[in-house]
Order: sequence, then C-alpha cells, then structure tokens
Amino acid sequence: MRVLGLETSCDETGIAIYDSEQGLLGDALYSQIEMHARYGGVIPELASRDHVRKTLPMIRQLMADKNISAASIDGVAYTAGPGLIGALLVGAALGRSLALAWNVPAVGVHHMEGHLLAPMLEEHPPQFPFVALLVSGGHTQLVAVNGIGEYTLLGESLDDAAGEAFDKVAKMLGLSYPGGPRVAALAQQGQSGRFEFPRPMVNRPGLDFSFSGLKTYVRNTLAELAARPDGLTEQDKADVALAFEEAVVQTLVIKCRRALEHTGLKSLIIAGGVSANTRLREGLQAMVESRRARLFYAQPRFCTDNGAMIAYAGCQRLMAGQREGLAIRARARWPM
Ligand code: KG4
Ligand code: ZN
Repeated sequence: MRVLGLETSCDETGIAIYDSEQGLLGDALYSQIEMHARYGGVIPELASRDHVRKTLPMIRQLMADKNISAASIDGVAYTAGPGLIGALLVGAALGRSLALAWNVPAVGVHHMEGHLLAPMLEEHPPQFPFVALLVSGGHTQLVAVNGIGEYTLLGESLDDAAGEAFDKVAKMLGLSYPGGPRVAALAQQGQSGRFEFPRPMVNRPGLDFSFSGLKTYVRNTLAELAARPDGLTEQDKADVALAFEEAVVQTLVIKCRRALEHTGLKSLIIAGGVSANTRLREGLQAMVESRRARLFYAQPRFCTDNGAMIAYAGCQRLMAGQREGLAIRARARWPM
C-alpha cells in the first residue's frame, strides 16, 4: 500500500509518500520558523495561511521529482490533531479532498502517534512491545506500546512539556525560537558543576513530570546573576543553559529507567523534537546499557515534525482497515 502523508499541525509543512513494500519513497519539509521568529513564537493565523500556500505545490513537486503518479497512490493520511486548529484544517481539508478526487481511502492520524512511530522508519526499527518517551513542544509522556494503536499512558507532564521548558528558558536567555537546539548549543560552552538545578518530582513515586518549577528556578537564578555589579555574562548564560539541560535530561533518564523497571520491558524509544537532543540520547544510552536494554530513535529530521511519520502511521492504520468518512475533521485537543 502506498500512502501520501500530510503534516500541518503547527509550523512545518511536511509531506511524504510511504510504501509498505518499498519504504519511504520521498519526503519534503518546509519550515515556517523564519516567518514566526520575529514574533518569538508561532502565530496561528500566519501558520494556516502559509500551509495553504505550500501544501499543494509541495505535493506536485515531490510526485514529479520521484516520478510517482496519482494513480499509484492507495490512500491519504493527514494529521487530524492535536495542534493549531486552523493549521490542522488545511491538511485535513486537502488530504480528505485529494482522497475523494483519487477515489482512495483517507485517514486522520494523531500527531503524537506519528512521532511515536517515527523510529519505525529507521533501518533497524524496534520490535513491539516497548516503552516510548514522547518529548515534544506540546507533550511529555511515557507510554507502554504493545502494537499499533495499543497504547497505555504511564505518566505525563502535569504542567509544561519538556520542549516548552526549553523554549521558555531560551527566551529568558535571549535566544530565538525554537529554543531547544539553541539552548543545547549554548550549553556546550557551559561549565559543569557551577549550578545544580532541581530534578523535579524524581523523589516522588510514579511516572509523571513537572517542568514549570525548574523554569522558575532558572528565572530566579538569572535574576540573581543579573543583579550583581557586573551583571549577567555570556559565561553565566552558558552555565545556566547547561545546568538546565542537565536537570531536564537527568529527570527524563530517571523516569525512563523507572518505566522500564515498572513494565519489565527491554526496549525504549524516544520521539518528538526533544529526542533530537544529544545529551538526552547519551544519558539514555548509558542508562539502557546498564539495564541490558536497547534505545531507539529516529534520525534528527524525523524527530521534529515531518510528513514521513504521518505517511507511515497512516499506512499502518489504513492497512488495518481504518477509514475516515467524508467529513473533514480535525481536533485541536485529542488524547492519544
Ligand atoms: O515534535 P516537535 O517538532 O513539535 C511538536 O510537536 O511540538 O518538537 C518541537 C520541540 C520544541 O520545543 C523544540 O525546542 C524542541 O522540540 N527541540 C529540542 C531540540 N530540537 C528540538 N529540544 C532540545 N534539544 C534539541 N536538540
Ligand atoms: Zn510534533
């Protein structure tokens, strides 16, 4: 089965064609980051309008480049939520309409299911069952995964998502959006051991997270440093970035170890934008090795939002017989 996938839930226009026999045939991504950067965050209306401009020309281009005919497409998948409702509706309306025009089935995909299955696109994919840590701009969740659609929530953030905390700390440090990669880059210049930030909720049982207190801790530390006679230096900022990153990573590592213990599973996958973080990958790699377990993640371009993960997830759903009616449906909020 060959499926066209569309991702338009936020500020990236992602399209891809996945074939169940041949794998990923092609994908394209357009990021709106530059357009939103000067506002310090994503402006929903601008995002929707830009998706309208980009989606159809990108699909045409990809099909022409890869010599893929419309007649060879067996289904269309689009992100149906969660996300910015206007942006989602662009992908849902176009995806549903293309499926109608091509007389093939359509399926609306959950954005986080797309992230969760992205490591399946790699050469050595994980086998079910596994524990998944989903860490994106909007979600921080630990999920036990038994198979496609068989997800049990083990724990989640009670306030900010990990990526959101990265983005907010970036803003405090005067770095532009999206903050995760920029905080990580600045942390490279930091000196370890100068600050020790709290590891939120690690002393409590359970698998939930909270990152909002850590963010406040960063704000207070920066304010104290800035109040000194010589103010906040570049080295201070780098040291704070490193202490923050270490606190987030160690918290995630502790909770992942606990999730593996709790479920008895031997495979951990990480997905979502923050799973591109090198320090997180290294911390988790060391932890799984000590437990004789294995860590899986997608290549960096499939950690953040992309069309390939939606084409893949949609293909699995369509092969399982799932179909959308003719209505164009999208949901800003949608539990997985
Ligand atoms: O999955 P994603 O592209 O979009 C959502 O579904 O939210 O995740 C974006 C988030 C942003 O918060 C961004 O700052 C964070 O992922 N991120 C990172 C890194 N790359 C992206 N956070 C930490 N380190 C990174 N290298
Ligand atoms: Zn995402």
